[in-house]
Amino acid sequence: MDIIVVLDFGGQYTHLINRRIRDLGVYSEILPYDVDIEKLKKKNPKAIILSGGPGSVYEKNSPQLKNEFFEFTTRNKIPVLGICYGHHLIMHLLGGKIEPKEAKEYGRTNLIIIEPDLIFDSLGKEEIVWMSHGDQITEIVKGFKAYAKTETCPVAAYGNQEKLLYGFQFHPEVSNTPNGNKILENFLYKIASCKKEWKLEGWIDRTVEEIRKEIGPNNRVILGLSGGVDSSVTAVLLQKAIGDRLHCIFVNNGVLRKNEEKEVQETFKKKLKFKNFHYVDAEDLFLKRLAEVEDPEEKRRIIGHTFIGVFENKTIELEKAHPDIKYLAQGTIYPDRVETSATSKVSAKIKSHHNLTLPDDMKLKIIEPLRDLYKDEVRKIGLKLGLPEYIINRHPFPGPGLAVRIVGPIDKDKLMILRSADEILIEEIRNAGIYDQIWQAFCVFLPLKTVGIMGDYRTYEYICSIRIVESTDAMTANFTKLDWDLLERIGTRIANEVKGINRVVYDISNKPPSTIEYE
Ligand code: XMP
Repeated sequence: MDIIVVLDFGGQYTHLINRRIRDLGVYSEILPYDVDIEKLKKKNPKAIILSGGPGSVYEKNSPQLKNEFFEFTTRNKIPVLGICYGHHLIMHLLGGKIEPKEAKEYGRTNLIIIEPDLIFDSLGKEEIVWMSHGDQITEIVKGFKAYAKTETCPVAAYGNQEKLLYGFQFHPEVSNTPNGNKILENFLYKIASCKKEWKLEGWIDRTVEEIRKEIGPNNRVILGLSGGVDSSVTAVLLQKAIGDRLHCIFVNNGVLRKNEEKEVQETFKKKLKFKNFHYVDAEDLFLKRLAEVEDPEEKRRIIGHTFIGVFENKTIELEKAHPDIKYLAQGTIYPDRVETSATSKVSAKIKSHHNLTLPDDMKLKIIEPLRDLYKDEVRKIGLKLGLPEYIINRHPFPGPGLAVRIVGPIDKDKLMILRSADEILIEEIRNAGIYDQIWQAFCVFLPLKTVGIMGDYRTYEYICSIRIVESTDAMTANFTKLDWDLLERIGTRIANEVKGINRVVYDISNKPPSTIEYE
């Protein structure tokens, strides 16, 4: 299968470039900019894209390419496309001149094409493109031609047909460049002669085969199933590959949503006919350890450790009955393991406290069938594999569950109150038909009592905060500007129907500075 390599120079759009290439039908992977040429050779790329980046090419210590890079690509006739920083870098390394520009060019810009080339095939003479740069090329190297300009940028695109080197000052990968996909398609299919082979149907068959080969005819696999999208898709994929030799462990940690443990069992045991679905009810243990714990980090730590202990014990018990359990499957996806500057600093930190690493001494081999996929690809695969839509399109739910949605110490009463309020919220959001447009909608329990009135009686009860946010990746989020009538209906229902709540507030904080969850 043809493969494109995107070299990451630290730009915020590296994953987006990679996604676009796959959406256009060619498999694509991200590698660090300083990857060994030997490793690059092994990938046998059909073309290479150099991403943008925050630096300036003329600065000391700015990321550069390996010395042998151009020799390797020219000798093997591998087209290279530089975007933004990559655009400057090609020119800089081959002897051109890059200089800072007085005023930064930012936003939608008119691109004027001055030299026809296959890369702009079937485009207009002028195109709207997205620009974001402070440096620009002021001197072009022999053998290169300026292909396009903007009002203030004389070399907004260039090419060297003989050496198959191309550069764009603008970003074809963002949706603000309306014909960006067409330009990338020209690069993939007309310049790099890629074949359109990256299809998810083929992926399922191929992966099932690979899993069978790796696991062999007798070995068994353990999987921690949370009911979230990634672990659920991993489960159905493995079941397809090895049937009942898959053992799923679902732990009730006492901080699940209302009826969640029943729904997950119903789905996997009854609907999807999982034979080795092991339900572990550890509610009492978790709640006992969490009793009176106030500090958010301490709550997370206790839940994480307790989960590992419970999971390990169940695994040991299963291993006694089935000594051929040799693998531990995980629902790791591509952005979890390939760090780019946009994901590394923030998401590495988030991941470290969200996702649990199981101890090494479990001596099981790890298998991660979704390791090369993005979330929306995982969702498509899940649907194709017959997982119900309500699992696929579920809002994210944190590992430490409702414990991070009850401020301060948790107990059964507070959990019951929160579950009832949350059920009403989700029901109303679904009835209004907006569940799928929202990143997350949930209730939070605030341990603060205020006065209210119910009939002739004064009440003194807790506050429920409603949190509804829009986001694309949870790094930033905006509160949803919900319809007032809907908000009123939700508030009224919660205050009237949930015993223990007499006041409902709507959270109007964005992230940053607030986080999505409360703890
Ligand atoms: P914050 O609260 O950091 O949340 O803005 C960002 C996203 O991550 C989810 N989240 C978690 N997910 N384990 C998870 O699997 C966790 O411990 C965890 N904490 C937060 C949160 O729901 C939001 O989507």
